[in-house]
Amino acid sequence: MRPAGRAGDARPAFHLTNRVVHMQSSGSLANISIPARAGVGLKAEHYRLILKTLPDIGFFEVHAENYMGEGGAPHRYLTAVREHYPLSLHGVGLSIGADRPLDRNHLARLKALIDRYQPSLFSEHLAWSSHDTGFFNDLLPVPYTAETLSRVASHIEQVQDVLGRQMLLENPSTYLAFSESTYGEVDFIAEVVRRTGCGLLLDVNNVFVSSTNQLWDPISYIDSYPLAHVQEIHLAGHARESDENDRPLLIDTHDRPVDDIVWDLYAHSIGRIGPVPTLIEWDADVPAWPILAKEAARAELLMRSKDAAIPRAAAE
Ligand SMILES: [Fe+2]
Repeated sequence: MRPAGRAGDARPAFHLTNRVVHMQSSGSLANISIPARAGVGLKAEHYRLILKTLPDIGFFEVHAENYMGEGGAPHRYLTAVREHYPLSLHGVGLSIGADRPLDRNHLARLKALIDRYQPSLFSEHLAWSSHDTGFFNDLLPVPYTAETLSRVASHIEQVQDVLGRQMLLENPSTYLAFSESTYGEVDFIAEVVRRTGCGLLLDVNNVFVSSTNQLWDPISYIDSYPLAHVQEIHLAGHARESDENDRPLLIDTHDRPVDDIVWDLYAHSIGRIGPVPTLIEWDADVPAWPILAKEAARAELLMRSKDAAIPRAAAE
């Protein structure tokens, strides 16, 4: 699954200016733009501290599926946090790659959540987690074929139609390649962008995890990724294990600090793209707030060091 060149440019029907994403809003929520700064995942463990101290964080991101209930403490806290910070919404349950229709009820709940909180960004994975009547906890990869390309593009068009806005598609972390794939991953993603006008989320940790597991070059992947369409970056920690042949096997665990090699790949990425909203994803064994804040500060420091106002055209 070695990446190759990108397909032609899409013509997004949405407004993107200098990596700060704007959306139309009829509501009263402030800060509806996400700046090119670092954000962190909003976790229940930190609700009170965040509201008490209002730390200097660029934005917060939440998993949509954690807020699909009607009320309760999570909504009370998220409402309060949203009054002070830009928000990014990250979906993990749409199953965009599944070989069955999207769940209309899930989409409707997503639409209600977006109407309620007006996040500046909404992203989902290039993956599937449902099949027939079953649901899986994992985000599973799709083979990159003409058939799956049509299906993924059709699902993304449906999502964007229902939500009335652009979504970002995230590159997956993978542990194997499908022999039936006829596209490289980057070509597949570029063609999805061209067909749907969706934006992209570049998960740099996913690139490193996949490239190590499948023995390809992460720099080539990043350099050939459709960088002009990247509106958010994810950074996360991974676990290092070994397979039965004693070769390194990386697991996308989101339970520890970002690896130094991933920081290097991030520096390379923003050197190409310029500063872009960057999320520290830490979803398991969530640490004390200062540790998360330190990771975010490191991302900001790197962004500032690369902030030579790289012209957008340089990434195209
Ligand atoms: Fe991610």
